[in-house]
Amino acid sequence: VAPLKVGIAGLGTVGAEVVRLIESQSRVLSARCGRGVRVVAVSARSKAKKRGLNLRGLEWAKNPLALANDPKIDCFVELMGGSGEPALSAIEAALRNGKSVVTANKALIAKHGSRLAALAEKHGGALNYEAAVGAAIPVIKTLREGLAGTDIHRVYGILNGTCNYILTRMEREGLSFAECLKDAQRLGYAEANPSFDVDGHDTAQKLAILASLAFGTKVNQSAVYVEGISSIAPEDLRAAEELGYRVKLLGVAVRTESGIEQRVHPTMVPKSSSIAQVMDVTNAVTIDGEGFPPITLVGPGAGGAATASAVLADIADVARGIRAAPFGRPTAKLKTTTKAPMKRH
Ligand code: NDP
Ligand code: HSE
Repeated sequence: VAPLKVGIAGLGTVGAEVVRLIESQSRVLSARCGRGVRVVAVSARSKAKKRGLNLRGLEWAKNPLALANDPKIDCFVELMGGSGEPALSAIEAALRNGKSVVTANKALIAKHGSRLAALAEKHGGALNYEAAVGAAIPVIKTLREGLAGTDIHRVYGILNGTCNYILTRMEREGLSFAECLKDAQRLGYAEANPSFDVDGHDTAQKLAILASLAFGTKVNQSAVYVEGISSIAPEDLRAAEELGYRVKLLGVAVRTESGIEQRVHPTMVPKSSSIAQVMDVTNAVTIDGEGFPPITLVGPGAGGAATASAVLADIADVARGIRAAPFGRPTAKLKTTTKAPMKRH
C-alpha cells in the first residue's frame, strides 16, 4: 500500500514535534497502520527560523493554501492556530479537494466546526481534531466513539493546562500570576495570545466541542458563560485553602430542563476531592453518563509532545482509512448561560 502523504502547516511547539514524532515513530506507525506515513511538505511563516528539524527533502510551501491544493498530499495537518485566516481557507480548500484534515485548533473548530464537518462529509475526507481538547487525553474519541450509545448528563473538568499550571505554582510557591504565566509561555503551554487561556476562552472553546459531542448540540462557543483567572492572586488561593478548598478553573456542561448549560469559571473544590489533586499542566475530564459511575480521564493537557501524540493518532486514523463523522447531527437545544451559579463544586 502506498504511504500516506502528509503536508503540515505550522512548525511551532506542536508542528515541529509532529514532524519529529512521525520520523522517530515511523516503524511503529507503519506497523499499526499497515502502511507508511510520510511528511512530504511543510509550511510556516519563516523559512529561515531555526527549529532543530531536519527538513531536507521536504517541499517548502510559502503559503499553507498551496499545501491544501497540492494534489500529492493526502492529509493536510493544520497546526498554525487562530479561528480565521489563513487556517480557515486552507482547511476549507483541503476538504473541498477531498483531502483529510487533522487539526489541533480548538478556536477554529469551536467557531466553524459544524460547517467544516458538513464540508468533510460532502467531499469524503475526514476532519479529525483529537488534539484540540485535552492534548494527549483521548477525550474526543471517548465521547464520539466509546460512549456513542450512552446518555450523558454532565461533562466537566479542567481543560486548560496553562491556567492549572498557574494556579498550582501560585498556590505552592506563592509566585505572582505574571511570573507563572511567563513560565507557561516559555514551556509552550500558552496560546499565541495567552489571554485566550487566562480569560477562560480556550476552556470555553473546548467545552463547546465536548458539549456538542456529549449532548448533540451545535458547537457554539458564544452560548458559554466565561470567567477566567486573571484577577486571582496568591492571597485568594491561601484564603480558599484555610477553608479547606482549592481553586480550579472548571468548564461544566450539563443537561438542564431548559437546555444544555455551558459555563467556565474559577471554582472552589474541596481539597479532598479527586479534581483538587489535578495539578500543574494536567487536565481532567469527568463524564457522567446513565447507568454507571462517572468516568474520569486524566493526562497532560498541553505541550508539544503531549499534543503531537494526539495529532499522530488522528493521522494514523486517516492512514488506516477510519473516518468517524466529526460531529453528530444536532438534536439538543443549548441554553445561553449568562450567569455562574454557586462557584463551589
Ligand atoms: P506556535 O505559535 O508555537 O506555532 C504556530 C506555527 O504556525 C508557527 O510555526 C508559525 O510560523 C505558523 N504560522 C502562524 N501563522 C502563520 C501564517 N499566517 N502562515 C503560515 N504559518 C503560520 O503554536 P502551537 O504549536 O503552540 O499551537 C498550534 C495549534 O495547536 C494552535 O491551534 C493551538 O491552539 C493548538 N494546540 C496547542 C497546544 C500547545 O500545548 N501548544 C496544545 C493543544 C492544541 P513561524 O514558526 O514561522 O512563526
Ligand atoms: N493553551 C492550551 C492550554 C493548550 O494551556 O491548555 C492546550 O490546548
